[in-house]
Amino acid sequence: MNRKDFISRVGLFCASTLVAPTVLHASNEQGESKDADKKIRVGIIGCGSVSGVYLPHLTKSPYAEVVSLCDIKPERAERRAKTYNVQNFYPNIEAMLAGVPFDLLVNLTDMQEHGKLNRQALMAKKYVWSEKPMANTYSEGRELYDLAIRLGVRIWGAPAVVNSPQFAYMSQQIQTKKLGRVSSAHAHYGHEGPNWSAFFYEKDGGSLPDLGVYNIATMTGLLGPAKSLVAMVNVVTPTRNVSDKGHIQVIAEDNAMIIMEHQNNVLSHIQSGFNYFDPYGHAGTGQDRPTISMWGTEGNMHLIGYDWAPFGVDIATKDNEKTRREVTDSKGYVWQEGAATICEYLATGKEPLINAEHALHVLEIMEAARLSQIEGKRIQLKSSFRWPVIT
Ligand SMILES: NC(=O)c1ccc[n+]([C@@H]2O[C@H](COP(=O)([O-])OP(=O)(O)OC[C@H]3O[C@@H](n4cnc5c(N)ncnc54)[C@H](O)[C@@H]3O)[C@@H](O)[C@H]2O)c1
Repeated sequence: MNRKDFISRVGLFCASTLVAPTVLHASNEQGESKDADKKIRVGIIGCGSVSGVYLPHLTKSPYAEVVSLCDIKPERAERRAKTYNVQNFYPNIEAMLAGVPFDLLVNLTDMQEHGKLNRQALMAKKYVWSEKPMANTYSEGRELYDLAIRLGVRIWGAPAVVNSPQFAYMSQQIQTKKLGRVSSAHAHYGHEGPNWSAFFYEKDGGSLPDLGVYNIATMTGLLGPAKSLVAMVNVVTPTRNVSDKGHIQVIAEDNAMIIMEHQNNVLSHIQSGFNYFDPYGHAGTGQDRPTISMWGTEGNMHLIGYDWAPFGVDIATKDNEKTRREVTDSKGYVWQEGAATICEYLATGKEPLINAEHALHVLEIMEAARLSQIEGKRIQLKSSFRWPVIT
């Protein structure tokens, strides 16, 4: 089977498994339908830094009702519950699963915990939205994906970059050949590294699953699944001081570069790291420079700002050589909207652009990048996903 056949088979498989949209009508404990509001009951696990960005967004979603919170540091769950008026909070996933019923687990814990907790939730027949990565290895992620299908639920993983209007615009320019034949692309994302939790620097942490993951999702989303890659990853800053554990050794890569080969000989390069000074800070506010660039035989385009918080797209083409800035309005897109997007899907059946097989492909790429470094060679990739994401 050649790659084209494989990709079209994967597409058919996706279509066949996803053809009937899941519409959950939230019900109360007596089993009475609450069709009038169709809110999806959400349980959030992990009440650290990112929960402070998710909760304000999710609690405003017309499709979600956050019913419980959980953290192994229970005071964190209690504090968030008070701030966001959530009625139930628990000290571990077992208590949460046995507690007040919910439909969707939103996993915002340490990266190393994702696979294990997502599995427990799926086994309890919960839908899962997981912060990245959705598992710690590609094979574990694939197992979770298959398990979800077997149990009649589903799992999705961050990031939600394919939702931005800037992504849509760039995809359309490529698909309608506005850039001619695209050959090459570059993306970068880095900052000075988180200083609150050690897990970012421990085994299965690293700048790739924390930061590079966005660029890999965007690149493959725009240029198609990668067939193979070469990469170098290493540690530049061997020790760090972090709030939860003090002075620690850095184990996971804090410096990474990957070159991917997509279909039709398109090459892309992404780099990520925890040693990047950025005068615009973590949020990139006010940044006017591109972080993603693509070149074709008849045009080039550049995403301004980060792909998770873009400000516009600069484009120049053979028939209009003056660079112009397009899509300066993000139309409400925010990077933390993934869980709310899934609630909308579960409530209405509106199929999301976010695709679990895409997240699995990104996971395989990150694992392969580390293998390429260890073995000093090019790594062939086997996973794929429905593409193009937007035409
Ligand atoms: N902080 C950000 O700006 C940001 C942005 C996007 C994505 N993310 C992702 O979100 C996830 C969490 O990051 P963070 O910065 O919020 O980390 P954090 O350390 O601030 O919070 C993680 C929380 O999870 C809890 N936890 C760990 N294991 C648990 C378990 N088994 N059961 C219950 N609770 C558990 C911890 O006690 C902690 O409160 C990571 O995957 C990260 O990559 C973070």
